[in-house]
Amino acid sequence: MGLKPLSELEAFYEGVAPHYDADYALLFPRWTSFYLGLAQETGGPVLEAGCGTGRISIEIARAEIECHGVDVSAHMLDRFHQKLASEPESVRRRITITHADFRTAALDRRFALIIAPGNVMNSFIDRTDQRAWLRNVHRHLDRGGLFCFDTFQPDYVRMLNEFSQGIFDVDRIEEGTGHRIRRWTRCHHEFEFQRFLVEMRWTVQDAGGTIVSEQSKAIMQRWYTQAELLNLLELERFEVRNYWGDFDRMPFGPASPEQIVLSTPSEAE
Ligand SMILES: C[S@@+](CC[C@H](N)C(=O)[O-])C[C@H]1O[C@@H](n2cnc3c(N)ncnc32)[C@H](O)[C@@H]1O
Repeated sequence: MGLKPLSELEAFYEGVAPHYDADYALLFPRWTSFYLGLAQETGGPVLEAGCGTGRISIEIARAEIECHGVDVSAHMLDRFHQKLASEPESVRRRITITHADFRTAALDRRFALIIAPGNVMNSFIDRTDQRAWLRNVHRHLDRGGLFCFDTFQPDYVRMLNEFSQGIFDVDRIEEGTGHRIRRWTRCHHEFEFQRFLVEMRWTVQDAGGTIVSEQSKAIMQRWYTQAELLNLLELERFEVRNYWGDFDRMPFGPASPEQIVLSTPSEAE
């Protein structure tokens, strides 16, 4: 089976990009400090695979660590470039941005730490895509280098109830315009294939309540169990160093919201 084309993903992130930083600062405020901590412990250089708008890469570069961001979405990277333009030259100099599909990209260098924050692995529905991604991480890691990614732990009760009905999961006032932005999310689950169609709708209203714009996007995503992640990593020759259940580094357990895996290429290389 060949790799999945990315046209659906690119169309989805066109809708996500304008709202991404503000929405995710509300929804997932602890991602950045967790990955920044790891970057500081390794000292870099860091590769952020699936860097999006650069909210984590920029923090890493501000901490005087070299960071290379790769992403396949031109819309997410446009935001990254815009934000970077207002950073001091010392930060800009530490960042490299590459527009590429990291399942196949060859960056011609290796890194002490590769991170894939923000459920990037959920984009890969089929094993062919998952394995291509992990293999490419392997190719870009220093011997003894570290690879860290997160993916949510599936909460089947919530999936069956809350998300299948659709929820407003973001309701905020936009800085500058004063617009009210509401995001509605619904997930249609196909439990037998461990995948779900995510539908999102962003409604932007002015101060008087008039709708200024409305946009909907959808994408198919995948969720993971711990057992299959451990199998996949072993198959692609990674040894797991830590398996955390949240961004405070609590050990993984039944009630953990996250699966955060720190691994390294196997010694047998
Ligand atoms: C939810 S965003 C996370 C962005 C960023 N890591 C963060 O935490 O803010 C997922 C990103 O992964 C990117 N992505 C998905 N598949 C990719 C691939 N094959 N190659 C490169 N980037 C990919 C998407 O374009 C998107 O920007």
